[in-house]
Amino acid sequence: MSREKVAYTRHYEAVMEKLTSHGLLLGSYDAAGNPNVMTIGWGTLGNVWGMPLWIVLVRPSRHTYHNIEYSGCFTVNVPGDELSYAAAVCGTKSGRDTDKFAECKLTAKRAGNVLAPAVAECPIVYECQVVHSNDILPTKLADEILSGAYVDGDYHRMYCGKILEVHAAPDAEARLK
Ligand SMILES: Cc1cc2nc3c(=O)[nH]c(=O)nc-3n(C[C@H](O)[C@H](O)[C@H](O)COP(=O)(O)O)c2cc1C
Repeated sequence: MSREKVAYTRHYEAVMEKLTSHGLLLGSYDAAGNPNVMTIGWGTLGNVWGMPLWIVLVRPSRHTYHNIEYSGCFTVNVPGDELSYAAAVCGTKSGRDTDKFAECKLTAKRAGNVLAPAVAECPIVYECQVVHSNDILPTKLADEILSGAYVDGDYHRMYCGKILEVHAAPDAEARLK
């Protein structure tokens, strides 16, 4: 799919809608160079320290967690409507024992600016370099979140990824519907 460079604020509403419905695909490589994608439903797109950021939350139990610890970067890929099944598969199977690119018939292409795979079939891709990471601290968490999201522990690590570039297809928003 042909994509062109766009501002990080472009398509904001459509991307948030996708994040909170089917989810977005977080791309990373493992230490052996194998690409992986996992579905995320939580994240923030915004501006901190004078730079555009994606803040994503990844639990230590995820294969992706180890990948990002290794590579220090990730991509956020926004799937079109026809890829909703991929978001479901990538949110239930682990790259530890499944090649999710092959299983979902997705194509991994090395991103131009970071050591992370972009999903060729996605109409919007953000390339992100980790500039800060921090663990969720149970002692600092409101009870309503602690009892809902962390009954089994596995406290997320928050990765602040500086957005180096965003690429979007000219008809990105139509593809997200
Ligand atoms: C809609 C949806 C949203 C999800 N959001 C997150 C998330 O924000 N953070 C997270 O750690 N796991 C999240 N998950 C769970 C992971 O996607 C899932 O555990 C996945 O299999 C991990 O893949 P990996 O082991 O290859 O990294 C989500 C799953 C679904 C279905």
